[in-house]
Amino acid sequence: MKICRTKAEIREFVAAARVRGESIGLVPTMGALHEGHMSLVKQSVADNARTVVSVFVNPTQFGPNEDLAKYPRQLEADARMCEAARVDAIFAPEPSEMYGNDFSTYVEETKLSRGLCGVSRPTHFRGVTTVVMKLFNIVQPDRAYFGQKDAQQATVIRRMVRDLDVPVEVVVMPTIRESDGLARSSRNKYLEGGLRQEALVLSKALAEAEKRLKAGERSAEALKMAMREIIAKAPHARIDYVEIVDAETLESVNEVRGKALIALAVFVGTTRLIDNRVLSE
Ligand code: PAJ
Repeated sequence: MKICRTKAEIREFVAAARVRGESIGLVPTMGALHEGHMSLVKQSVADNARTVVSVFVNPTQFGPNEDLAKYPRQLEADARMCEAARVDAIFAPEPSEMYGNDFSTYVEETKLSRGLCGVSRPTHFRGVTTVVMKLFNIVQPDRAYFGQKDAQQATVIRRMVRDLDVPVEVVVMPTIRESDGLARSSRNKYLEGGLRQEALVLSKALAEAEKRLKAGERSAEALKMAMREIIAKAPHARIDYVEIVDAETLESVNEVRGKALIALAVFVGTTRLIDNRVLSE
């Protein structure tokens, strides 16, 4: 497995694969890899002759008071996991390699990025779309893999690919969870002591919404209320949002009809966690 620290190196790796007529899969990550990331990697390895995993903690998607400085960085452990999963190359550039020192061009999706996480993180998706577009241009993959865990991100990237005619197939994989239901996340490392247990209110709230929906409750307000009540039971949990939106447009719905995305973001202590579920009536 090759570890590339520069754009030139990864471009060379990809060009050599292309000469051999090999297909390329790309799995964009910020590292601190876990089973969630590895499920995308496995799918890419199955689908493509070559798989590239990018490991880059992207500064432009972090807000001024977010966790950019303390975000876990563990390239050696990540490389071992990738090697074991038969990844062909890791692209792990420094921010200076990725952005230079006078970067001034951004890719911005202007509708789907506004709600949900976009309310409290107004510049986040602009950073995501910009870095993902750059990765697409550098690696030029046939397929790129994203997780349903970040449902809004996956929707925004699909829209960017459609709107800008990017020649890549976007593949979205299901959310991988711990055995007790907590969605796998690099940020779970921050959950110390009792906070790990309190974090279960996210998946519990989603399960409660699903149960009530199955029992016939269609009112979004009633479902959200039931979720808020569960989250309120955790003393260190503070809701950022609890929303029920159309799974395609990400617009709020009053009644659950057809496919709805139930999404939430909750601070547990100082750690902001997200989770979601797609449900149909
Ligand atoms: P990161 O949080 O490292 O996640 C990388 C990819 O793994 C994303 O597509 C994410 O949805 C997926 N993922 C994370 N946890 C998952 C889980 N429990 N189950 C399934 N998939 C999971 O998302 C980012 O990085 C960045 O925003 C990035 C797209 C790399 C751009 O910087």
